[in-house]
Amino acid sequence: MSKNMKHRWHDVIELTALENNWVTRVELGSRKLAIYDTPSGVYASLALCNHGGADLCDGYFDGHVIECPLHQGAFDVRDGKPVSAPATRPMRTFESRVENGMVQVKLKA
Ligand code: FES
Repeated sequence: MSKNMKHRWHDVIELTALENNWVTRVELGSRKLAIYDTPSGVYASLALCNHGGADLCDGYFDGHVIECPLHQGAFDVRDGKPVSAPATRPMRTFESRVENGMVQVKLKA
């Protein structure tokens, strides 16, 4: 993949299709993403946990923290920081926004 590849905004799901205050799984090409609806806005990350590969979309979501369903490691979805062991590395997050009712995520084209 070229280092010069540009990031751009991608439509991923309509805002009204998100579960309120919960996590929703979306796919963008081959990428599986988790979209989080929170009182302070919408956030996005890779759906797979960086500890053991579990699907975070099957986890428990509370406030701004997603808890992995496999070993209960947890991450703050606002910046990806691990907040509970055994998660130790930040998860991959993406810029997100809502435009005309559509959730958009910034990714390499
Ligand atoms: S796979 Fe997520 S904490 Fe282990």
